[in-house]
Amino acid sequence: MNTASSFLSVSGLSVSYGQIRAIRDVSLNVFSGEIVAILGANGAGKSTLMKAVAGLVPPAAGNVEIEGRSVSRLPAHQRPGMGVALVPEGRKLFTPLTVEQNLRLGAYSLGQSASRKLVGERMDEVLETFPVLADRLHALAGELSGGQQQMLAIGRALMSKPRLLLLDEPSLGLAPRIVEDVFATLLALNESRDLSVLIAEQNIREALAVADRAYVIQLGKVVIEDDADILFDRKDIEDVYMGRYKDGADREVACDDR
Ligand SMILES: Nc1ncnc2c1ncn2[C@@H]1O[C@H](COP(=O)(O)OP(=O)(O)OP(=O)(O)O)[C@@H](O)[C@H]1O
Ligand SMILES: [Mg+2]
Repeated sequence: MNTASSFLSVSGLSVSYGQIRAIRDVSLNVFSGEIVAILGANGAGKSTLMKAVAGLVPPAAGNVEIEGRSVSRLPAHQRPGMGVALVPEGRKLFTPLTVEQNLRLGAYSLGQSASRKLVGERMDEVLETFPVLADRLHALAGELSGGQQQMLAIGRALMSKPRLLLLDEPSLGLAPRIVEDVFATLLALNESRDLSVLIAEQNIREALAVADRAYVIQLGKVVIEDDADILFDRKDIEDVYMGRYKDGADREVACDDR
């Protein structure tokens, strides 16, 4: 596939929960092979955006296209077939089940026709990527450390062999050194497989260090979009991100009908 082609294209997307407009007219792209970061403070709308791309919340307006095909009305269970997998916020592992059982559940989305051989191959690939999981295959997911649980959540998503991995705050609750390990793993996956990544983070510095491009969202709107290395050098990014942006974004948000 041509590296300049857009794998994911979100246009004019709005998502509401009753009266709350969580995502407002958001447009963004993830080109094939890119790592793109969605940065924003608590409540900015990061998870809602990820869920909308994964098909877990319906759009009130706008469109989500994967490889040029509109999927906005496709139910979540059909999205894995489109090559998209979500690692949800808080990991959402089945803690009373073993590591192996959690991984097998990730293959469930391959459909009933997935052969034992195929599932076995996927499992081998994932265990090669995360040797720590191979060592703990029969341990309960709930007995793993936070970092190992995040690796398991990513491994579970990889069982469907996605081409776009959606990661919702993978660094949440992890020690800085473990966060570095998780991000290094993402970079390696991005480079070694045909895998594009959309990652929602509050950990701006770490996310910008691995991302190609980033979007900053505030109150559900994109307020900044730029190359990650340019944003990395912007001194005002923390202020924007914390909602203290003084020219432009704040006014725009203040003028809004929210
Ligand atoms: N299920 C829901 N029902 C009603 N409102 C919701 C629901 N989920 C999120 N919201 C609201 O939508 C807005 C965006 O929330 P969202 O969880 O997408 O933000 P976030 O950027 O992921 O925040 P965090 O960093 O805390 O995870 C918030 O105002 C939130 O209260
Ligand atoms: Mg969230």
